[in-house]
Amino acid sequence: DPPPPPGPLSFTGLKLVNDRDHPWRPLRNGDIRGPCPGLNTLASHGYLPRDGVATPTQIIKAVQEGFNMDNGAAITATYLGHILNGNLVTDLLSIGGKTPKTGPPPPPPAHAGGLNVHGTFEGDAGLTRADDFFGDNHSFNQTLFDKFVDFSNRFGGGFYNLTVAGELRFSRIQDSIATNPQFTFKNVRYITAYGETVFPINLFVDGRQTERKLSMDHAASFFRDMKFPPDFHRAAQPSSGAGIEQVIAAYPWLPGGNADGQLNNYVVDPTSADFTNPCGLYTFVIGSVQELYPNPTGILRRNLIKNLGYWYAGGFASAGCTELFPYGQL
Ligand code: HEM
Repeated sequence: DPPPPPGPLSFTGLKLVNDRDHPWRPLRNGDIRGPCPGLNTLASHGYLPRDGVATPTQIIKAVQEGFNMDNGAAITATYLGHILNGNLVTDLLSIGGKTPKTGPPPPPPAHAGGLNVHGTFEGDAGLTRADDFFGDNHSFNQTLFDKFVDFSNRFGGGFYNLTVAGELRFSRIQDSIATNPQFTFKNVRYITAYGETVFPINLFVDGRQTERKLSMDHAASFFRDMKFPPDFHRAAQPSSGAGIEQVIAAYPWLPGGNADGQLNNYVVDPTSADFTNPCGLYTFVIGSVQELYPNPTGILRRNLIKNLGYWYAGGFASAGCTELFPYGQL
C-alpha cells in the first residue's frame, strides 16, 4: 500500500546540509534529471535516489531535510506531481523523463511519464527552462539564465530578490506571449509559476544569511550544476511560498493563454484556478485525474483513492475545500 505522507521534521532549524554524508556526484549513465532545480540538486547529493526515481515519501523527506521546505508545501507539490505524472501502482515518480524504472505504465491516456510531461505540472514561462513549444522544456537553458542574471543586475544589484522576481516573472510571461503560439498559463501552471519565483529566495539562500537575496554563483550552482554551494546550510525555518503576494502585486496578471494558436493573442480564462480560489486548483486536478484514469480497477483504483486522500488532507482540507471522491471511498 502507498503509505501516508511523512510529517514534519523533528528538528526544523538551521543545519549544514552539504555534509559528508551527502556528497555531490556527477551524473552516471542513465541518471534522470528534470525541470526542477530543487529536486535535481537533492538527487545529485543523494538526499533522493541518485537515479532520479523516487517514492512520494522519499521526495517529501528529501525536500524537508535538504531545504527545510514546510510539510504542507512538500505534501502538496509532491502528490500533485505524483498523481499527474507518477506510476500509481508501483508508487514511483521520475523527476524527469519517462523511464521503465517506474514500472509498467498504466493504460493510456494515463502515462506515468515523469515530471517532464508538459501541461501537467511542468508548464510555460519558466525562469531557466524554455517553453515546450521550443523543443526542450526541462534542461537548463543558458540564454534564459543570462536573462536571470541580467535582471538580477538591473533590479537587484547583482542578486535575485523579490523585486527581481516581480520583474522577471512578468517579463517571461511577455516573452511567451510574443514568441510561443501555444502559450498556456492557467490552473496548475498559473499557481506554480509564481511559486517557483520565490523558492530561490526562500530555499536556495543559505539559512545563515539574514538578507533574502541569492548571489549569481549560488544561483548557477543550483539551477545549472544541481549542486549545493560549499558549506550550504538549509533555511533556518520551514519555508515555501512567502513573498508570492509581492511578486503578483508588482504586475497583477490573470490566468489565460494565447488563443487560436496565435502570437500576441493572450486571452484571460475566467474559469481557471487562481490565488483567490485555492479549491479551484483542487477541483481542476480532480477533473484531470478523471481524464487520465476514466475507469481504474484493482490496485490502481485503491492507490488513486489513497493518493487523492493524502493530497487533499495535506493542503486542501485546512483551506475548507470540499473533498471529492471520483473513485468512491475505501
Ligand atoms: C520548477 C516539481 C520542490 C524549486 C519545478 C517544476 C516542477 C517541479 C515539475 C517545473 C515547473 C516549470 O514548468 O517551470 C517539484 C516537486 C517538488 C518540488 C514535485 C516536491 C516538493 C522544489 C523545491 C525547490 C524547488 C524544494 C527549491 C528548493 C523549483 C524552482 C523551479 C521549479 C526554482 C523553477 C525552475 C525554472 O523555471 O527555472 N519544480 N518541485 N522545487 N522548482 Fe520544483
